[in-house]
Amino acid sequence: MKPLNILLIGKGGREHALAWKMRQSQRCGNLYVAPGNAGTASVAQNVSIAVDDFTSMGVFCRQNDIELVVVGPELPLVKGVRDFFQNDPQVMHIPIVGPGKTGAQLEGSKDFSKQFMLRHGIPTAKAKTFHAGETKEAAAYINQCQPPVVLKADGLAAGKGVIITNNKEEATREITAMLSGGKFGEAGRKVLIEEFLNGIELSVFVLTDGKSYVVLPEAKDYKRIGDGDTGPNTGGMGAVSPVVFADEAFMRKVEEQVVKPTINGLQQEGIDYRGFIFIGLMNVDGNPYVIEYNVRMGDPETQAVMPRIKNDLVELLLATATATLKNHSIEKDSRSAVSVVMASGGYPGDFEKGKVIYGLTEPTEAIIFHAGTTSNQGNVVTTGGRVLAVTGLGADVTTARQKAYAGVARLNWDGVYFRKDIGLDLLTLRKKLSDEYTG
Ligand code: AMP
Ligand code: GLY
Repeated sequence: MKPLNILLIGKGGREHALAWKMRQSQRCGNLYVAPGNAGTASVAQNVSIAVDDFTSMGVFCRQNDIELVVVGPELPLVKGVRDFFQNDPQVMHIPIVGPGKTGAQLEGSKDFSKQFMLRHGIPTAKAKTFHAGETKEAAAYINQCQPPVVLKADGLAAGKGVIITNNKEEATREITAMLSGGKFGEAGRKVLIEEFLNGIELSVFVLTDGKSYVVLPEAKDYKRIGDGDTGPNTGGMGAVSPVVFADEAFMRKVEEQVVKPTINGLQQEGIDYRGFIFIGLMNVDGNPYVIEYNVRMGDPETQAVMPRIKNDLVELLLATATATLKNHSIEKDSRSAVSVVMASGGYPGDFEKGKVIYGLTEPTEAIIFHAGTTSNQGNVVTTGGRVLAVTGLGADVTTARQKAYAGVARLNWDGVYFRKDIGLDLLTLRKKLSDEYTG
């Protein structure tokens, strides 16, 4: 079959991993990334179009005979990139991976996604929603809550919209700041107060054409900046796939209790969803509870998940966009993947940019995915908080960790920071599970 011209939207590590995987496909023709980074430039051609400049995307697609559009980040989806394409007669024929504005509300509004889960009997934490002006009611509610209290800003808040605290006074102060519009702007004018779920988190990824679906390899993310899960939240400092406790029995529960009701719910509500669904789950005593939906792949989870997919990614994405996914099933690489994020010193707070990255051409067994990088006068320099994600693949987590960290050791720039413990907790957990099994 003929290779396709593809436009991928985004500029992070997730997009480099998607582009890297698509490039391996026989069906990948000209591959463009808008706007991309220094890493995507090595497997595709970068195009200087912002992720929410839909008009320029439409023009580019017409001029370059684009036959498939793949949307990486949530922002263009929540802003309606799919709706824009579908309403423009000149580009409406191009298949798109990514839901329309209504489907994207699963991520764009925590209140929408909570109500969706409740309507379809999907297990999730109990929650109550408060609107601007309801500060007194929210304070009274917090007062009778059993801490920790979980506050969630309704709208997109760049991964920072969740506050968890044991201190009810702090919770009241925070929700007051949010509801009055000062904190998180419009995104915080509606806030959910949620029951705290005690368990281990994992991320499950589904690709659906609205009728059929495939479950991609699962992953565990490391959200905090510091070793041992300490310090402030980040976009994610590392990822591991597979996840030891996500055994067959647990994944069957996820499929029956979460994935199927989610796809059926979308159908029942007339939402033609074609794209990724990232399900953030808490494993509470062996049972899955949904913490959140995202309408895209995870970052850095994608950098651990893509190397474990054996399928042709272009075929899968085209089938998603053209509603022919029922003919596909996922073939997984049984090896483990560990991905370590290398960040700018100071992240997730203020950090300096423009540092020259050394070691990118050194031989390594690891796969180096770029996130916040750009080319500048023959050098690759830092432009973001999360700069690289270095993935090792190995027979088990220990070998994959060794390969990833050997790759990390060859790379350097002024102020570089990374966690030293990505995947370590899973080794302890595996030992505990096998002791329980044998003992
Ligand atoms: P979110 O932005 O929804 O992914 O939430 C950020 C993080 O907060 C999650 O990854 C969890 O670690 C934590 N979290 C969110 N909701 C809950 C909850 N109900 N119980 C416990 N932890 C939670
Ligand atoms: N790593 C978490 C996310 O992509 O939302």
